[in-house]
Amino acid sequence: MNPRNEKAAYLRLGVNIDHVATIRNARGGGHPDPLKAALLAIEAGADGITAHLREDRRHISDSDITRLQQQLARPLNLEMAATPEMLDIALRHKPHACCLVPEKREELTTEGGLDVAAGQEHLAPFVRQLVEAGIRVSMFIDPDPAQADASCSIGANVVEIHTGTWCEAVIEGDQGRMDRELARIRTLAEYADGRGLEVHAGHGLTFESVGPIAELAQIVELNIGHFLIGEAIFGGLDSSIRRMRALMDRARAEARNEKSA
Ligand code: PXP
Repeated sequence: MNPRNEKAAYLRLGVNIDHVATIRNARGGGHPDPLKAALLAIEAGADGITAHLREDRRHISDSDITRLQQQLARPLNLEMAATPEMLDIALRHKPHACCLVPEKREELTTEGGLDVAAGQEHLAPFVRQLVEAGIRVSMFIDPDPAQADASCSIGANVVEIHTGTWCEAVIEGDQGRMDRELARIRTLAEYADGRGLEVHAGHGLTFESVGPIAELAQIVELNIGHFLIGEAIFGGLDSSIRRMRALMDRARAEARNEKSA
């Protein structure tokens, strides 16, 4: 098996547990516990856990990060803004990976990718210090080759492609927009992989929108949160993660079989 086929064979799932903390924080106290959700997610097939420590601490808290890093047997991916405070926290905990994201206090969620091309000078020292500490560094970018070039030139290991626009197109059922967005993601995944970057994707993915993204052989990890936690209300976290895992695996296997046929 050549390395590219090997890469295509397995797609990792990182489960984002931020919104377990959102529900906990709505009432204060400790229930539901994001660490318990993370342990359950791993039992259900998650390959890693993702958590976003936001500047305003609206969901994940500092002590959640401490407990996750100490108690998880799988890699922790810490999403964070490129600020001195977050850099200190990351260097103290040394998670497996850090994903740098843009952050605005007033936004409901991460609305777009990081403008790495415009912010290279600011971002480069953050990337360098994290990489030197042995942390895999990922840049959350829109599907734009200029952003992959900039991520490469400041020494990031990984790009995570923002799939939010694709997911909106799926919800709208707008076939033209879906085709355009998927083509942009496919082009960027191939381009970034060709530049030696590891390629991840995430944001807004659902049972309906995950398949065509999972088919893209260059993508080796998906990070999914809000939909999985929302679905857990109806069928439980274990069931929502197992179903997502199965849809990812099926899409990846079908794409592989088509290629080899
Ligand atoms: N990847 C990144 C970089 C994110 O910021 C988020 C949202 O926190 C996700 C993935 C997961 O997005 P969602 O919760 O919409 O599945």
